[in-house]
Amino acid sequence: MAIKDGYTLVVLGAGVMGTAVTAAVTESNMKPFPKRVILCSKSANSHERLKKQFQQDYVEVVTDVDRKKAAIKEADVVLLGCKPFHFESVHEEVRDSLAHNPLVISLLAGVTIDNLSIFSDKIARVMTNTPAQFGAGMATVALSESASEYRQFVVDFASCVGAAQEIPEKNMDAATALVGSGPAMCLLMMEALYDGGVRMGLTHDVARTAAAKVMEGTAKMALETGEHPAVLKSKVCTPGGTTIGGLLKLEDAGVRGAIARAVEEAAIISASFAKK
Ligand SMILES: NC(=O)c1ccc[n+]([C@@H]2O[C@H](COP(=O)([O-])OP(=O)(O)OC[C@H]3O[C@@H](n4cnc5c(N)ncnc54)[C@H](OP(=O)(O)O)[C@@H]3O)[C@@H](O)[C@H]2O)c1
Repeated sequence: MAIKDGYTLVVLGAGVMGTAVTAAVTESNMKPFPKRVILCSKSANSHERLKKQFQQDYVEVVTDVDRKKAAIKEADVVLLGCKPFHFESVHEEVRDSLAHNPLVISLLAGVTIDNLSIFSDKIARVMTNTPAQFGAGMATVALSESASEYRQFVVDFASCVGAAQEIPEKNMDAATALVGSGPAMCLLMMEALYDGGVRMGLTHDVARTAAAKVMEGTAKMALETGEHPAVLKSKVCTPGGTTIGGLLKLEDAGVRGAIARAVEEAAIISASFAKK
């Protein structure tokens, strides 16, 4: 059954990512658009935070277990946003409310479609990242066979964070590493650029802004030209110039291999979260 305009969205685990995706969807012009959004969390702190952030009259915030169960019974779409190691206890709480087999969109790292089938057979895994909070996120999507009829809906839903692409489920751990953990890796590089600027006398204010704008601008240049990064990089290297000198220092330190291996390690850890 297609998801129709006026559907009910229940967010089970409205933490950092659940909140970011919900905000992206509710601030979008996406069709179909939900008529009710019910945000479920566990603590009183989250309850207060969510009440403050979402003031639309169609958004409800619940922490009480009976109200969570009632919400899930009404759900056309469940957005699962708990920590990977909590999914079984979260399922235990609402298991009696899932008989109608809703579409479940999981944001969880590592937890497979097979693991998530305790919720429903209509599972979509979406891996996204914290830049989603600013409309600059990336999302990858993988669907169970029974969810394939919801492909367009899920890709449009995930695209609200910025951009989305469907990939096979076997690549979700790689996507978790690159998309989910990638921002932290970029921040480490940004911090290093900032430190270098300060070392050479720039003020903190100038170095912080410059490091961030350099990364933002470079990403924009790569996206808009569609060129391979190596091609763009070689265009910036004047023979005998400053840039090639700096790049060779990075190559001496093995930075390229270290970053690629960081993605590999994060993907291995993501794969270890799956229940065998
Ligand atoms: N953070 C990232 O950069 C990132 C990137 C990509 C993917 N992810 C994935 O996104 C998922 C969420 O991560 P996060 O960083 O958003 O974590 P988070 O901020 O800790 O959010 C988890 C939420 O789950 C809620 N929760 C726990 N038990 C619950 C229950 N029984 N019923 C309802 N809600 C419950 C918590 O409520 P309380 O707040 O009330 O405790 C919290 O709001 C993870 O599975 C992670 O793999 C995260």
